[in-house]
Amino acid sequence: MGLIFLIGFMGSGKTTLGRKLASRLGYAFMDLDDILEAREGMTIAQYFSRFGEDAFRKSESDVLKHTQYPENAVVSTGGGLPCFFDNLQWMNAHGKTIYIKLAPKILADRLKNERVERPVLIGKQGGELVAFIEQKLAEREKFYNQAAIITDGLSLTADKVVQILNAAT
Ligand code: S3P
Repeated sequence: MGLIFLIGFMGSGKTTLGRKLASRLGYAFMDLDDILEAREGMTIAQYFSRFGEDAFRKSESDVLKHTQYPENAVVSTGGGLPCFFDNLQWMNAHGKTIYIKLAPKILADRLKNERVERPVLIGKQGGELVAFIEQKLAEREKFYNQAAIITDGLSLTADKVVQILNAAT
């Protein structure tokens, strides 16, 4: 099948689902956020605070396009990645993109309990967090919606994704 890129908002489960999907398919699993952190030698939060978002967006695009991928892999991507430069077209040209779609309230619920540091969300809680997600998602969906496959992220399992992939090919 080649490369499968999982895209979607922060908290949509790209990494958790990606790991399961990769093991179900017998593919490698790669997380572009982790690759960027290893390459830059710091966490994404540190990178943002030292160099700012514009530098981060360039670096993540570079990581996307210059990572050595194995023949078959499930690739989890940062929530903003499809929305900058020609990253989405690049992914569509090099593999199959899957948008894991979830409503803002559900994303907010998941994100409020997360311990991962996300610079984009710093200081946002409660109603403010939901409103922020609604607005960001509205901006980002025009990119996410260009994925080859769009699927509801609620109770999504690796088996279900395999079925969808098989039906789409
Ligand atoms: C970001 C999402 C994060 C990470 C960075 C910016 C975003 O990835 O790339 O903090 O702009 O949505 P996850 O979606 O894996 O949390």
